[in-house]
Amino acid sequence: MFEVLTTEQMYEADRRTIEAGTSGDVLMENAGASVVAEIVSRWTTRAATVLCGPGNNGGDGFVIARLLRNAGWSVRLGLLGDVEKLTGDAALNAGRWEGAVERLSPALLVGADLVVDCLFGAGLARPIEGDLASLVQAVNDSGVPVVAVDVPSGVDGNSGEVRGISVKANVTVTFCRPKPGHYLLPGRILCGQVIVRDIGIADQTIRDIRPMLVCNEPGVWRAGINWPGVDGHKYHRGHLLVIGGATMTGAGRLVARAARRAGAGLLTVVAEPASLSVYAADSPGIMTAPIATLDDLLKDCRHNALVIGPGFGVGDETCSRIITLLHYCRCTVLDADALTSFAEQPSTLFFAIQGPTVLTPHEGEFARLFPDIEGDKLSRARAAAKRSGATVLIKGADTVVAAPDGRAAINTIDAPWLATAGSGDVLAGIIGGLMAQGMEMFDAACMGAWLHARAGGDIGPGLIAEDIPHHLPVLLGQLWRGVP
Ligand code: ACO
Repeated sequence: MFEVLTTEQMYEADRRTIEAGTSGDVLMENAGASVVAEIVSRWTTRAATVLCGPGNNGGDGFVIARLLRNAGWSVRLGLLGDVEKLTGDAALNAGRWEGAVERLSPALLVGADLVVDCLFGAGLARPIEGDLASLVQAVNDSGVPVVAVDVPSGVDGNSGEVRGISVKANVTVTFCRPKPGHYLLPGRILCGQVIVRDIGIADQTIRDIRPMLVCNEPGVWRAGINWPGVDGHKYHRGHLLVIGGATMTGAGRLVARAARRAGAGLLTVVAEPASLSVYAADSPGIMTAPIATLDDLLKDCRHNALVIGPGFGVGDETCSRIITLLHYCRCTVLDADALTSFAEQPSTLFFAIQGPTVLTPHEGEFARLFPDIEGDKLSRARAAAKRSGATVLIKGADTVVAAPDGRAAINTIDAPWLATAGSGDVLAGIIGGLMAQGMEMFDAACMGAWLHARAGGDIGPGLIAEDIPHHLPVLLGQLWRGVP
């Protein structure tokens, strides 16, 4: 149940379910009942205002109003437009509502303890403007808790972007599976807590639709982890090369620490001779080699993965170094300066990528490398993966990972403490360490992003980048024992 459905796929799931014999009326009743169950489990307040739109999201609202009133709540209902213009299941449920249908206005908020937002769900077709925008603003200013149904009105379910203005919800109850807009910013913040409820759509129906997007959870990549066998030795666990910078040695050291904690069996930092002692002093378990020997190291096929970029320096020399590295088709993680160095000639990089490669840009690096790719984060990651032939991980509070074959994953863990210097270097190191052990590039990027976020959430306030590698044994131990 890791799938994330686009709004089009959700419509398709509804359609197939109805075709298979469950009526739209039943689906709508189930949707409304699941929202009411969520409300009564959280609030003992007794006065709700339900704001209904002209489509099926509004239809859900009529069900919710009826069931809340049956549960003893005092309910006011406001409708956008005329009740006579409602159609289908929404009209059916408007007919079952025995209370008044009021016109939408901020007066509906007076005395309300809870607002239920059923203005627009997946059918949002244009920006919210005019009087409706003023009403949404009044809801947000009122301080009254809001439960949004499916998505907060104004949030685009596919992109998480706001069209005009959006309701800011405390809780969003969605159905069957989450949508991208629940996890992509700014939708992620506007949704509040996201609750996913079953409304009677079979898991097989979802599998048949074949969604290519998942929540980044262990079930997605757990089977791809190469745990050491009883007879395993360090050479089975991969040898990672970390190409370290001459002066910004902190970044390379963080990469090395993280990669070893992620399980790389052997690790060599390759750098200018003058800085090698700095790397060696950081960690007695690493090896070092002068950068002049890099070509020879690359010809030695026992080095099966490498990380380059953090602290390496931006420039033509970095570009030519990377082109050479990529020629050897090792598993490669390119981060930071490795990405920025190609800002003037991105196609040179994409042409050189042949082996399993993961690019880990933050938003600024992404914009430099893919200046013409626009849109929401998920679409951009997918387009960039397709163009580059690499797995692309765009970092941020809503980290997304996309593979060239169309698979994609969204991070669902909130870990604001990760916004600190060196945290990205650690992520590159974790992914490199996993790839060195033979993990497939998309799985390694997803697992790396998950470990990183979980560590960020677990460590919490006061986190510095050095703490993250230290926490990896706890998380890896849990995964090894089958938790979570
Ligand atoms: N300003 C004003 N009106 C707007 C705006 C805007 N910015 N944007 C869209 N609208 C109008 C549209 O014109 C449309 O009105 P119309 O029907 O009069 O043309 C209406 O808003 C569409 O809004 P929605 O209610 O969001 O769209 P839809 O009717 O397609 O329902 C749905 C969406 C199915 C409820 C979706 O959110 C969903 O999948 N929810 C989860 C499943 C669910 O609730 N199922 C129960 C119903 S299933 C069924 O009955 C098939």
